[in-house]
Amino acid sequence: MKILQKTGMDRDRLGQDRRFDNASAGHEASSTGRREPMSRTDASRTILGAQEIHTHWENDYLNSDLDPFYDRACARLVEKLGAPSGAKILDAGCGYAYHAMRYARLGLHVVGVDFSETAVRSARTNVKHAGLDDRITVQQADILSLPFPDGSFPYVVSWGVLMHIPEVEKALKELVRVLAPGGRIALMENNASSLHVRLWEPFLRGVKRALGRKLPERARTGRGVEEWSHEGDSGGLMVRKTDIRWIERTMRALGADLIDHSTGQLTELYTALPSRALKRLVYRANWIYFLRELNPRLALGNILVFEKRK
Ligand SMILES: C[S@@+](CC[C@H](N)C(=O)[O-])C[C@H]1O[C@@H](n2cnc3c(N)ncnc32)[C@H](O)[C@@H]1O
Repeated sequence: MKILQKTGMDRDRLGQDRRFDNASAGHEASSTGRREPMSRTDASRTILGAQEIHTHWENDYLNSDLDPFYDRACARLVEKLGAPSGAKILDAGCGYAYHAMRYARLGLHVVGVDFSETAVRSARTNVKHAGLDDRITVQQADILSLPFPDGSFPYVVSWGVLMHIPEVEKALKELVRVLAPGGRIALMENNASSLHVRLWEPFLRGVKRALGRKLPERARTGRGVEEWSHEGDSGGLMVRKTDIRWIERTMRALGADLIDHSTGQLTELYTALPSRALKRLVYRANWIYFLRELNPRLALGNILVFEKRK
């Protein structure tokens, strides 16, 4: 998921985020009272801990137009995991628990974790209102050090989360650690070699450059294309488009082999479009691409399922 392009009413909130970013995320008070620069990881975590970013995501990705896609995508994911009704699944980085509620409605028992207190609070409220508290528990925890013994879960899912974690190798190691031998894990990550990254993003950067707008810092690393999208004094929130071969190699080295690779959304171009009618055209194209299970290597959203060796 990405967060930069905002439209309509979101712009006011984006302004608030920028003020938040500059005022709070970039610096922290030292013991001497001086403002010291924060590490990028800490700046990223501070942004994720605040309400605004979750509200953006809710506006951009969690609306009634996108519900049919997410319903179908979560169902496909559970099918590809092969998780039977009643099985326990860890939803790592559950956010507001919208997907956790989908997995629960499909019969799974979900443990949702998120390190953001804001997200955990809203997730618990959503779960309670939906009457799913007998099937979902939500707890505040960091994926980088999960409070579960080795092999606790037969199934793990993490949708749109690793892309925001700078120490992604550590996160993968932790997710594989809590997965039972023979268990399966599904990851939804954005793909660095997608048409969206290769065509749309250079176009958008060109337009921004021509308009004299500041561009997010961007680097090609072994893990993919890494951007710091909330420009602050000492960095901002990481948004990575992942090199799918890299994640496959890394997981293999951790003892989990890729058993399925399928498409999510073709593009998130809709986040940059000003009207609902235009957004709907893109939703439609994404829907067709997804339903026909076309080539994931061209799509932005990639769903990867790994099985841990016994
Ligand atoms: C883009 S949201 C996705 C939320 C949810 N999976 C969904 O698709 O609706 C990313 C979530 O990951 C959480 N997150 C990021 N880094 C995390 C970490 N190290 N530990 C736990 N949660 C983390 C954020 O707080 C945020 O709620």
